[in-house]
Amino acid sequence: MQTNRTPLSDRLAVFPRLGLATLPTPLEPMKRLTAHLGGPRLWVKREDATGLGFGGNKLRKLDYVLHEAISSGADTIVSGGVVQSNSQRQVAAVAAKFGLACHLAVYHGRLEPPTPEYKTSGNAFLNRLFGAHLHDVPWTGDRNAAIRALVDDLQAKGHKPYFVPYGVSNALGAVAYATTIAEIEPQAAQSGFAPAAIVHCTGSAGTQAGLVAGAAVAMPATRIVGIDIDAEPARVRADVVAFAQEASDLLDVPFGEASVEVVAGHAGPAYGVPHEATIEAIRLAGQLEALPLDPVYSGKGLAGLIALIRQGRWRKDDNVIFLHTGGAPALFAYQSALGI
Ligand SMILES: Cc1ncc(COP(=O)(O)O)c(C=O)c1O
Repeated sequence: MQTNRTPLSDRLAVFPRLGLATLPTPLEPMKRLTAHLGGPRLWVKREDATGLGFGGNKLRKLDYVLHEAISSGADTIVSGGVVQSNSQRQVAAVAAKFGLACHLAVYHGRLEPPTPEYKTSGNAFLNRLFGAHLHDVPWTGDRNAAIRALVDDLQAKGHKPYFVPYGVSNALGAVAYATTIAEIEPQAAQSGFAPAAIVHCTGSAGTQAGLVAGAAVAMPATRIVGIDIDAEPARVRADVVAFAQEASDLLDVPFGEASVEVVAGHAGPAYGVPHEATIEAIRLAGQLEALPLDPVYSGKGLAGLIALIRQGRWRKDDNVIFLHTGGAPALFAYQSALGI
């Protein structure tokens, strides 16, 4: 029976997973970036190092979501995203690994291709490498409509499709992401600190929702700070609140909206378009820490963190964790636009 004192890891243990990700991911100091910025003490949680198919934050969610798919007898995984979506590349990777067919709705038009290599390199290339069936569809603003239409079509043809939402963001994906907190708590304690904040980029909202739900019970003194990269901070915040509420109910942990902080102003001119601060963050992470950040997500996340540091948000001796959510394959699709 669960009580208020039941540890997060025990609450999570009742949810079945496949074990497809390489976990726990490392928590490492970023000494050179810390020195460059003059504090606070910066750490990186390597969610880019989750393994399969170049890794990233979606594998943690897919660990649970794919278990549900396989248990329900699905033979086909259906999802979607923009041309350079890291999410659909990770879906394609796990489908290949588990011998499932993979159909992806590839949205065109959310952004103008920023480079000649955008449509063929990076994640777009990896989707083909992993054997996914790609269906080109126009972006309408409804992230899940074309994915659902594909599910209906495949069902009508006799397949057993399983719907994976845009960004693998739903209640179960958020529960899955709470496992990151169950890892960070002992890792930080072992390194002798309690983080003042965990900062990361936020978009389809499942990552932040899981962090918020997990932190409520395991790290209540740590602030979760999401940097909006969708240029839609109100929509992102509303989605984080909704998924965090659902995940908190499933985990039986308390939830208050005040724990959801989505920071606007670092998404650049638009989703998928890197600006000067993004490129500065990518350069700093590369040159000081050998960390490959991407121009759509993690680069903007670090740009937001750097801006908050320069605004004096934390004391020099505070410890702040940057969650590196992955995305490096997109670097190659944006290479000629980065000037690096
Ligand atoms: C590299 C990377 N970081 C962060 C995110 C955002 O995570 P979420 O969609 O759970 O908010 C994504 C989502 O696509 C991503 O690909």
